[in-house]
Amino acid sequence: TWTMVNIVEEQIEAIRAQVGENGRAICGLSGGVDSAVAAAIVQRAIGDRLTCVYVDHGLMRQGETEQVERDFVAATGVDLKVVDAEERFLSALAGISDPEEKRKTIGREFIRVFEAARAEILAGFADQSAAPGGDKVAFLVQGTLYPDVVESGGGAGTSNIKSHHNVGGLPDDMDLELVEPLRTLFKDEVRQVGEQLGLPAEIVHRQPFPGPGLGIRIIGEVTRERLDILREADAIAREEMTRAGLDRDVWQMPVVLLADVRSVGVQGDGRTYGHPVVLRPVTSEDAMTADWARLPYDVLEKISTRITNEVREVNRVTVDITSKPPGTIEWE
Ligand code: XMP
Repeated sequence: TWTMVNIVEEQIEAIRAQVGENGRAICGLSGGVDSAVAAAIVQRAIGDRLTCVYVDHGLMRQGETEQVERDFVAATGVDLKVVDAEERFLSALAGISDPEEKRKTIGREFIRVFEAARAEILAGFADQSAAPGGDKVAFLVQGTLYPDVVESGGGAGTSNIKSHHNVGGLPDDMDLELVEPLRTLFKDEVRQVGEQLGLPAEIVHRQPFPGPGLGIRIIGEVTRERLDILREADAIAREEMTRAGLDRDVWQMPVVLLADVRSVGVQGDGRTYGHPVVLRPVTSEDAMTADWARLPYDVLEKISTRITNEVREVNRVTVDITSKPPGTIEWE
């Protein structure tokens, strides 16, 4: 639409003015629509003075890192640096069960990893001093949307529901200036902008996935073992949703592991004492409000049977039938 064309043009001008002729920017790609679209706009504005950084924090879903590397680079040709930071995030998260503390820890570590990446990128340019105007990497591009700003409590008219990792979770002593071209937009508008920019459907129509990843879908402490359990259950749920052709009918479907809860079950002729997972299928326009999705019973049955058969530590599958409000979409 015309509005979206205008927004892209306007943002390109604004970014050029903000970053200047010699500034460089790095962009954290999360694998989601928002950061991908933000990166694509900034790339239009400053070309190869943008370097994208994908932080593999070990909290991603199965196959996700590989998918980001493949799809995004193929679509944009952008310079992408993948940082394996699993060890670092998991040790930072050790012992933390409180949702806000998790979010703040993840937000802080993200920035630390970006700062390290920036130092490395700079070092790379130092030995080719003729690098085009590349004396500074001072900008951090983020795909922050309007609802992130509102829900993280950013001033007048905002609330304080949770600290989205990219807003309330930023450390105070951060040494990068933010570039946030999507800050006034809602998700459906971002998708229109993405289409406008020619990004492929696999990116533009991806369901939302939170920056803190599976870290906020494990209720209780985040450990590698728990992540592996959740990754398996989540992969099964996603596979069955895709197989049933329901991907575009739901906004997203978090799978949540109640890691501190156990219940008694029976399997074969033995007693089990495993963990429940919660399926959280929702429909929504903009994530500000949501309704629980009425999934077909046969799909729910398939998911439940497969998860309890294939994921040894999970012996119970439940469905969350709470709208937002009063529930939020994610459990933390
Ligand atoms: P809630 O749980 O607040 O989620 O109803 C609304 C939407 O935002 C996503 N979400 C996040 N996205 N960083 C993100 O990039 C975050 O920290 C974050 N927390 C929640 C959530 O998946 C849903 O689509």
